[in-house]
This record gives sequence, structure tokens and C-alpha cells, in this order.
Amino acid sequence: MKFTHIIILSLLLLAVFTVAKRIPSHEVLPTPVLVHAVKNNPNKYIVENIWYGNGYEDDDKVTAILKCESPVVVNATSQPTVFGTRRVFFELTVPDGVGTVVCRRGIFDIDSFRFWVISFEPTK
Ligand SMILES: *[C@@H]1O[C@H](CO)[C@@H](O)[C@H](O)[C@H]1NC(C)=O
Repeated sequence: MKFTHIIILSLLLLAVFTVAKRIPSHEVLPTPVLVHAVKNNPNKYIVENIWYGNGYEDDDKVTAILKCESPVVVNATSQPTVFGTRRVFFELTVPDGVGTVVCRRGIFDIDSFRFWVISFEPTK
């Protein structure tokens, strides 16, 4: 790197760190799902969906969603709740012979619409 490049880079970094002031932001994010096999029922699985975020009050409305590819059935695909519950559970019915369960899940309020793909192999 040339000397002038180093100078320019240093000035840019300086600008970022001196101008920046933390202001409130709004974001809700999921943590990786936890999948639980249900004892004594090889066709049932519980998907635990946990989230965290910034700029929400505990009583702000959010909706947790889990949609799975057929033939897997989710007990309640859309679960409206509040930010402060921080987790919901979905119960999946997985018929025999399904190789990989593929689902999309999201946790969002009115202005975020992102989905994340999850998958797991049934234990039998
Ligand atoms: C779906 O199943 C989960 C786990 O058993 C349960 O916590 C949740 O309340 C169920 N939702 C509905 C709407 O039945």
C-alpha cells in the first residue's frame, strides 16, 4: 500500500469513528432453531424458535412463522405474540419416509419480512 493510501484509509476510519453516534435502531433477529424429537412419537418434532432484538418494548406485537414443505404439517404456522415472550414452539407432524424436513421460519413485526431456511433429518 502506498503512503497516500494509508493516509486516506486512516482519514476514512477517523471519519467513521468521530462522526458516529449510536442512535436507537429497530431489529428483530432469530437465534438458530432448536429441534426436539418427541419421546415415544417418532412422527412429532418440536421446533423451538427464539428471538432477540433492539428497539422493541416487551409488549410490541410480533409474529413467529414456520412453514414446512409438504407433507410435513405444522400445528400453527403463524403464531402472533409479543416481543417479550422471546420464544414460541411449533409442533411438526412428519410422516414416515420423509428424508429431509425443510422449513422457512421468520419472526417479524410489521416492517420486516425476512425468512430463514432451516432443515433437519428425522431421526427415523
Ligand atoms: C403448537 O405446538 C406447540 C408445542 O406443542 C405449543 O407450544 C403451541 O401452543 C401449539 N400451538 C397451537 C396454536 O396449538
